[in-house]
Amino acid sequence: MIRRLSLALVLVLAPAAVMFGAADGSWMRNVPARDHEKVSPYGGQDDAIAAGRRIFVDRCSHCHGEDAEGTKKRPPLKSERVQHQATEGDLHWLLVNGNMKKGMPSWARLPDQQLWQVISYLKSLRQ
Ligand code: HEC
Repeated sequence: MIRRLSLALVLVLAPAAVMFGAADGSWMRNVPARDHEKVSPYGGQDDAIAAGRRIFVDRCSHCHGEDAEGTKKRPPLKSERVQHQATEGDLHWLLVNGNMKKGMPSWARLPDQQLWQVISYLKSLRQ
């Protein structure tokens, strides 16, 4: 009976933790050094930013907001962490691997070029 009850609690609370747990950046600790140091081949090039913006609107905005301002349950990407703490390489690693247990899908099926373009777009939001 008690086991049943605790199983029920786990089933109820685990998804709640996934949905309401604020992003804490713990994914950054998993990025290997050689990925951390990767640099985008496009940097701040205007055409890469424009292409990245289109990819973002298509693939990311329903979770992260039209202008990356975040939604109720998903973090903004204009944050100090994404803009300043994370390197381009860190973001690339996250896009390839995702962080599924916290609700961030992997984008490994997108061509590498598109991943770097979306990173150019994200980094262009730095204020
Ligand atoms: C299904 C919803 C969903 C989609 C679609 C999605 N994300 Fe996420 N994303 C999340 C969640 C949830 C997190 C928080 C993960 C965590 O807690 O570490 C996250 C985290 C991130 C982070 C790290 C934020 C931080 O503060 O640590 C970045 C960067 C990011 N997403 C970029 C993207 C990009 C770029 C796309 C589109 C290619 C995308 N995401 C699509 C749900 C989504």
